[in-house]
Amino acid sequence: MKALVLSGGAGTRLRPITHTSAKQLVPVANKAVLFYGLESIAEAGITDVGMIVGDTAAEIEEAVGDGSQFGLKVTYIPQERPLGLAHAVLIARDYLGDDDFVMYLGDNFIVGGITDLVDEFRGNRPDAQILLTRVADPRAFGVAELDPSGQVVSLEEKPDRPKSDLALVGVYLFTPLIHEAVRAIEPSWRGELEITHAIQHLIDSRADVRSTVITGYWKDTGNVGDMLEVNRMVLEGMDRRIDGDVDTASETIGRVVVEEGARIVNSRIVGPAVIGSGTVISNSYVGPFTSIAESCRITDSELEFSIVLRDSSIQGVGRIEASLIGRHVEVTPAPSVPSAHRFVLGDHSKVQITS
Ligand code: DAU
Repeated sequence: MKALVLSGGAGTRLRPITHTSAKQLVPVANKAVLFYGLESIAEAGITDVGMIVGDTAAEIEEAVGDGSQFGLKVTYIPQERPLGLAHAVLIARDYLGDDDFVMYLGDNFIVGGITDLVDEFRGNRPDAQILLTRVADPRAFGVAELDPSGQVVSLEEKPDRPKSDLALVGVYLFTPLIHEAVRAIEPSWRGELEITHAIQHLIDSRADVRSTVITGYWKDTGNVGDMLEVNRMVLEGMDRRIDGDVDTASETIGRVVVEEGARIVNSRIVGPAVIGSGTVISNSYVGPFTSIAESCRITDSELEFSIVLRDSSIQGVGRIEASLIGRHVEVTPAPSVPSAHRFVLGDHSKVQITS
């Protein structure tokens, strides 16, 4: 069995972060979202991974390499444009050969891994198996309709009027029968070859398509709110570990991770929170559910329920909450005269000001 991991695409809902970096590499508790998926694949006993990459191929390749850090053998499959999830299967045809495979969307986050699911699929070997979960607003997802016996009757991609609250989770198990289906379908209204349509094609041709409804934690980390939420959830599961320097004027409370090479000076860190190596926190408060990556400077500031990417510096800010801050960002106090906000913001930046 192989895995096909999708790490192409544009990531418009995470702009401006995704103008300059791949959305699958945005860190959760200081580790790329994609890495959690790759670890789950390795745990499930799969070693051969085909990785679909697009514009951000160089960055993904730099982070993942040949996959050996995860115990995997990764082969990169370039996709010229994000033409759809079924298009990714189409271009991976030669790589996948006649093997069964798990397709894993690189921006999806599933707690508890996929080992049970892969084992179940290996045991029963239906033509395809999908994962579903109940969501509050199914319109942002693929949506499944089940008959009373639990059989999948229909699938729709991002419907205006969903027939159920069961959303498709971004992990799919396929036999080679899917290759015929992806060749048989036409692009959707959004110009993409939808995997949802390919699975519907299987259902229409009476293939055995099974579904599992998961009740555990799942998130598509496509937007900032979801990223912060996943970050919160992962941090909650961490154990306290102080490998860096904490001076006597500082306090670290609860599940706090201070990586080796980080320094906490005259500050208060309330967990769960993680501080990356090379980062210096001075005269500041870092509150719960906050991940600060490597080589940042947080000075005279307060920060809570936020993610800060590496090499950023925040200085003299009253309080920052519910924020995603990119790499090499500088937030500094303005001179007192004139009393004005000063910005250099990239395209699609979002700023909320309290005065
Ligand atoms: O997250 C679950 C949802 O994922 C499902 O409920 C939907 O049925 C499914 O279509 C998909 O919807 P999204 O609109 O969220 O997919 P997105 O465009 O964000 O792409 C998912 C991942 O696949 C992401 O890591 C980018 C990558 N991708 C996407 C496309 C369209 C590719 O590598 N190539 C592509 O052509």
